Amino acid sequence: MRIGVLTSGGDCPGLNAVIRSVVHRAVTAYGDTVVGILDGYRGLLEGRARPLELDDVHGVLARGGTILGSARVERERIRQGVEQSAKLAAVLGIDALIAIGGDGTLTAAELFSGAGLPVVGVPKTIDNDVEATDATFGHDTAVLVGTEAIDRLKTAAESHQRVMVAELMGRHTGWIALHAGMAGGAHGILIPERPFDIEEVCRLIDERFTRGKNFTVLAVAEGATPAPGTMEFQHGGRDVYGHQQFGGIGHRLAAEIENWLGKEALPVVLGHVQRGGTPTALDRVLATRFGWHAVEAVHQGAFGHLTALRHTRIRLVPLTETVGRLKTVPPGQWVEARVVL
Ligand code: F6P
Repeated sequence: MRIGVLTSGGDCPGLNAVIRSVVHRAVTAYGDTVVGILDGYRGLLEGRARPLELDDVHGVLARGGTILGSARVERERIRQGVEQSAKLAAVLGIDALIAIGGDGTLTAAELFSGAGLPVVGVPKTIDNDVEATDATFGHDTAVLVGTEAIDRLKTAAESHQRVMVAELMGRHTGWIALHAGMAGGAHGILIPERPFDIEEVCRLIDERFTRGKNFTVLAVAEGATPAPGTMEFQHGGRDVYGHQQFGGIGHRLAAEIENWLGKEALPVVLGHVQRGGTPTALDRVLATRFGWHAVEAVHQGAFGHLTALRHTRIRLVPLTETVGRLKTVPPGQWVEARVVL
């Protein structure tokens, strides 16, 4: 068989581990030929690919990013591509496609699959918000980076009696802020699922200072939003790919806290640092398992499915059951993360 593999959407630690695993399993167990499609769906639409042999994936397990490149593509271009699915597959000479990506990638995979292109999806996102799977690789690495940052910010905040607002990734869900905040012992965690009241946040910080705890570190998801009728704040508009843009809540919060309490408050935006560098062991293992099972799915003819972690096992779940469904933080889990300030 000739299998195409692509990585699409934002990069994520563990992508190379999936690619490596796909090549290993496909070549050694089935004698397949693997073709790496360059720059995600853009490469598929433009017929750009390169062969992937065992030597090509040597040493990539621990490497961040993606050796195939990634890109975002306008929805209209995807729609046009879907109409030519058979032609695109013929140009690259592929019998099946493994598409590794987040919700946008899996949505496109479902469209291509519906149009007759044999596709298996592999979920990835540092945000951990794909409903179908208990976990996505990349998340553990992002949480580790966030945790280390909070650890470091605590000493910096304590030495100078400051408030530090650590803004973490997470547009629609707060998993990274929740987990990094919990692991780092942040004094407050603000996530999109639970709109916050700035007055309450300031009151808690103030009480903390009154008790002689002269510093505070907050873990804030970039998509955190004030409760209606409290602080006025607008997240960004939509980019050319139709994604809502975020950024700015950390700065705004720090300014508000400084205003309300007269205490120095500094924003620290971690941004893409959370997505870079080597994946953790946990992410490498999950990515490797997903790659292995994606090849199995291809050989079982389980097209239109994605690999998903369910408890300890990898299952194949129909793409139709997952696209557009976000896994959000349940209220009970946010409550578990609350600490006495
Ligand atoms: O979806 C993963 C993610 O890292 C989000 O946490 C973040 O908001 C977004 O991608 C950033 O995307 P970009 O790299 O296109 O700015």
